[in-house]
Amino acid sequence: MNTHSDHYFTAQPASSVERRDLRVHLAGREVVVVTAPGIFCPNRVDIGTAVLLSEAPDPPPTGNLLDLGSGWGPMALSLGLLSPQATIWAVDVNQRALALSRTNAKTLGINNFHALTPDEVPADIRFDAIWSNPPIRVGKPALHEMLMKWLPCLTPGGTAYLVVQRNLGSDSLQRWLESELEVSEPNVFTVSRQATARGFRLLSVRRSPTALIA
Ligand SMILES: C[S@@+](CC[C@H](N)C(=O)[O-])C[C@H]1O[C@@H](n2cnc3c(N)ncnc32)[C@H](O)[C@@H]1O
Repeated sequence: MNTHSDHYFTAQPASSVERRDLRVHLAGREVVVVTAPGIFCPNRVDIGTAVLLSEAPDPPPTGNLLDLGSGWGPMALSLGLLSPQATIWAVDVNQRALALSRTNAKTLGINNFHALTPDEVPADIRFDAIWSNPPIRVGKPALHEMLMKWLPCLTPGGTAYLVVQRNLGSDSLQRWLESELEVSEPNVFTVSRQATARGFRLLSVRRSPTALIA
């Protein structure tokens, strides 16, 4: 394993000594969160994440909102601050990141916040919105498997926003999503390029409002 990908696989929660405060802007306000080493981008809001947070439309006010690959929680916390009546699902394989996001949600007064590993999420939940800065570096097979597990869980009319670096394959991922989703559920999903900024594409995947839930 190279050091660049360590944060994808570090499972243990951080000790209190390792935790540190980080002052960031989320949902239009300055907040103080805790982060720690051994997770993705612990020292700031990642540039790709910032692109999604500035370019994606506001999430639905209610319903189930998913941050797929949530890290310390910049997207999940933003969802919770923007939509306080919604139920937020922060999903990650990194236990340390999940523990930090739980602490951050509590500090920011975000209720209805579930930080879970993928297997812990009830199988029948459907999501009104999905926001993700997906773990591109896990490799195509794992990335594709992850996206095809969660994107079909959008409710009718629900939209996923995925931010992907252009030089890490955003355009080929868009083409792959278009063809794969069309094969799995024909005429149901629309994949679009929502925005381009700072070397990133923001892709949207929308489930038709008239489609039946699988
Ligand atoms: C690019 S980081 C984004 C983290 C966070 N959303 C942010 O913006 O700072 C991707 C995250 O996906 C997580 N991850 C890796 N494999 C995953 C999987 N199979 N399911 C869910 N999350 C996964 C990693 O642990 C990492 O926290």
